[in-house]
Amino acid sequence: LQQKQKPPLPVRNKPMEIAGYVGFANLPNQVYRKAVKRGFEFTLMVVGASGLGKSTLINSMFLADIYNAEQYPGPSLRRKKTVAVEATKVLLKENGVNLTLTVVDTPGFGDAVDNTNCWVPILEYVDNKYEEYLTAESRVYRKQIPDNRVHCCLYFIAPSGHGLRPLDIACMQSLSDKVNLVPIISKADTMTPDEVHLFKKQILNEIAQHKIKIYDFPSTIEDAAEEGKTAQNLRVRVPFAVVGANSIIEMDGKKVRGRRYPWGLVEVENLAHCDFIALRNMVIRTHLQDLKDVTNNVHYENYRCRKLSELGLVDGKARLSNKNPLTQMEEEKREHELKMKKMEAEMEQVFDMKVKEKMQKLKDSELELARRHEERKKALELQVRELEEKRREFEREKKEWEEANHITLEELKRRSLGANSS
Ligand code: GTP
Repeated sequence: LQQKQKPPLPVRNKPMEIAGYVGFANLPNQVYRKAVKRGFEFTLMVVGASGLGKSTLINSMFLADIYNAEQYPGPSLRRKKTVAVEATKVLLKENGVNLTLTVVDTPGFGDAVDNTNCWVPILEYVDNKYEEYLTAESRVYRKQIPDNRVHCCLYFIAPSGHGLRPLDIACMQSLSDKVNLVPIISKADTMTPDEVHLFKKQILNEIAQHKIKIYDFPSTIEDAAEEGKTAQNLRVRVPFAVVGANSIIEMDGKKVRGRRYPWGLVEVENLAHCDFIALRNMVIRTHLQDLKDVTNNVHYENYRCRKLSELGLVDGKARLSNKNPLTQMEEEKREHELKMKKMEAEMEQVFDMKVKEKMQKLKDSELELARRHEERKKALELQVRELEEKRREFEREKKEWEEANHITLEELKRRSLGANSS
């Protein structure tokens, strides 16, 4: 018996609009409620030399006394002069949303006379957090894994006006493969706007020149809808030139966070004075989730692949490389395309060569034919000339004979014909 095959279902490209209200439109609210209940985790790392204003900026960013004088003795009172990595966890609450913020500081970075490999403890910290996450993921019970991975790294560049130092380049290069790197120019109030502009340009050039991969704030749908062109305007401010301040100053009856100087007031939260608001909006308000997603999907995946390849997992004959499989596939695809293009070019070259050869042969045989034709023509002309000569000779001889015998050859012929017939 032959089974009747069901016709395939028609493919729908457009969603089907339903007539009534079923309730799945409430799904985002369910996700929202669950996410709010669970709370959010974010780990921010600050890397930069001592006294660049890291703690002041973090306090300004979260409008909280994360680094207070009791817990945090300040640069001059620090005893250690080797690079240490210290994590501070605080629970912040805004409009009922909880955020567990972990700030990772790196005291002692760049403080020694010889700073060779001073970024290694920082890289180790980042890797350790990935390792912790990987171990937790591999456990039998793996519900609610605490996410302590570093989601963003603010790299503080000193406002020297002379570009990046070799230490900055080496450190940023090694960090950019592992975390979302956001370069910032600290204490921007020590430079004029023109100097800041030139300094930013120089830093971006050096970042491109040394192939440092910094976090590229993507334009999100929310940006387009909510912020319009503002997000784009904020993005062009990278590297953010920021000013930090812990003091609130009263100005014209308005309280502002800023730094007072004899010649005026620098407002931290004023885009005309510095890029602090751009940095805070991009990192916390619009791109915090993307920073977490990139950490999970790119940096953590790369770490996992590296780990798997170290374990010696072998794929057929080829050993797994320490790259993300997607990146590897993309690279292989590109390599294949390049190979095909090369082959195509080679084939075209061979084809061109063959066509040229054929054309040359045709030209040569055409020339040969013309030459032979010319030769034959000349030979025939010669032959004609010789025959003409012989004819003239014969005519002359005939004339001489007729004159000598007083009779023309035609007459003689006629007479001999008459004699024959009689
Ligand atoms: P360490 O504790 O050594 O890691 O230093 P830090 O990078 O945390 O610097 P901190 O925030 O302690 O600031 C050092 C000094 O710089 C303090 O006196 C701050 O008031 C000052 N400072 C911080 N931010 C700025 C700024 O944007 N502009 C200026 N001019 N000074 C700043």
